[in-house]
Amino acid sequence: MIQVEDLTKDYGTVVAVRGVSFSVGKGEIVGFLGPNGAGKSTTLRVLAGFLGATSGHVRIAGHDIAKAPLAARRALGYMPESAPLYPEMRVSEYLMFRARLKEVPRTERLRAIGGAMDRAGVSHMAGTVIAHLSKGYRQRVALADALVSNPPLLILDEPTAGLDPNQIRDVRALVKDLGSDRTVLLSTHILSEVEATCERAIVIDRGRLVAEGTIEELRARQRSTGLELRVRDPHAAAEAALTAVFGVSVRSGVTEETAPDRRRLRLGLDAALDADTVTEAVVQALTAAGIGIHALVPEQASLEQVFSALTRHEPSAAPEQSAETA
Ligand SMILES: Nc1ncnc2c1ncn2[C@@H]1O[C@H](COP(=O)(O)OP(=O)(O)OP(=O)(O)O)[C@@H](O)[C@H]1O
Ligand SMILES: [Mg+2]
Repeated sequence: MIQVEDLTKDYGTVVAVRGVSFSVGKGEIVGFLGPNGAGKSTTLRVLAGFLGATSGHVRIAGHDIAKAPLAARRALGYMPESAPLYPEMRVSEYLMFRARLKEVPRTERLRAIGGAMDRAGVSHMAGTVIAHLSKGYRQRVALADALVSNPPLLILDEPTAGLDPNQIRDVRALVKDLGSDRTVLLSTHILSEVEATCERAIVIDRGRLVAEGTIEELRARQRSTGLELRVRDPHAAAEAALTAVFGVSVRSGVTEETAPDRRRLRLGLDAALDADTVTEAVVQALTAAGIGIHALVPEQASLEQVFSALTRHEPSAAPEQSAETA
C-alpha cells in the first residue's frame, strides 16, 4: 500500500529526512515512532502529497506520488498534525466542502459525510461551528475529513495529540476499528500508543530509520536485564546460582535479591553477561543442587527502554544500531 524508497527531504539547509525506506502492506496498522523533530510529520506530508521529496521514491497504492499525484492522493485520507479547519464553518458544512474538493460524487456526498461523522463520533456536532468545538472534537472532525472519501489508506499525524485520556481511548479504539478494513499509518511519540493500536512500528530518529518490526521484535532487540526465578529454596538457590554464574563469567554484575517468603530470586544481568548462557548455567547448577525451579523468566525490556536505547544521542549509544540504518 505504501512503498518508500530512499526518501530524503530537506528544508534548505535542514535535512529533515535522510534516505528512509520502508513499506506498509495492505490492511496493516503501522506506528511511525520517533522523538520530537525526528522527521515524522515531514515524511507523512511527503507521503500524503503535500510536500515534494528532495530525492527518493514514494508509491501509494501503486501510484508514484511524483508522477501520478492525483491518483495517489485519491487513495489516501490524511490527517495533518494541526488540521487547517475553517473556524467559521459548521462541521457538516466543512465536511461537505471537503467532500466536494475530494471529488466525492454529488449524489454520494450526504451519505459520505454522514458515515464519516458517524465513525469519528461527531454526528451530534454536525451543526456546531468549528470555532466552538473543543480540541478533542476538532481532532475528530479532522479525522472525519480524512475518512470522507472512504479511502483505503489513512495517514494520521499524531491523532491523539492533546486529547484527554478518555478521548485517547476513544480514538485508539476508532483507529483499531478503522484498521479492520483499511491500511493505517499513524505517527506518535507515545510508545503505549503503538503498543495499543499497531501491529508493527517504524522508528525514526534525526531523519533516519533506526528500527522496524513488530513490538515483540523491537523488544527483543533490547537485551534482557535480568532473570527472575521462583524456586523452592531461594537462599540455597541464590548461592548455587551465584556460584554457577561466577563460573561462566569472570567479571559479573549479577545481583541477588531474595524475598524469602515469596520464594523469588532476581539475578540482574549486566552487559557482559549473556542471558542464555546464564540461564543454562543456573538451571544446571540448581538441578545439580537438587533445588526445585518453579519458574525462570527473563525480564523483558519495556518499550520505553527500547525507545530510549534507539533514540538516545550520547556517543556511547549501543553500536548495533548504526548497522540497522539502511
Ligand atoms: N517548514 C520547515 N522549514 C524548516 N525546517 C523544518 C520545517 N518543518 C520541519 N522542519 C525541521 O525538520 C525536522 C523534522 O521535523 P518534523 O516536523 O518532521 O518532525 P516530527 O518528527 O514530526 O516532530 P514532532 O514530534 O515535534 O511533531 C526538524 O528539525 C524541524 O525543525
Ligand atoms: Mg510532527
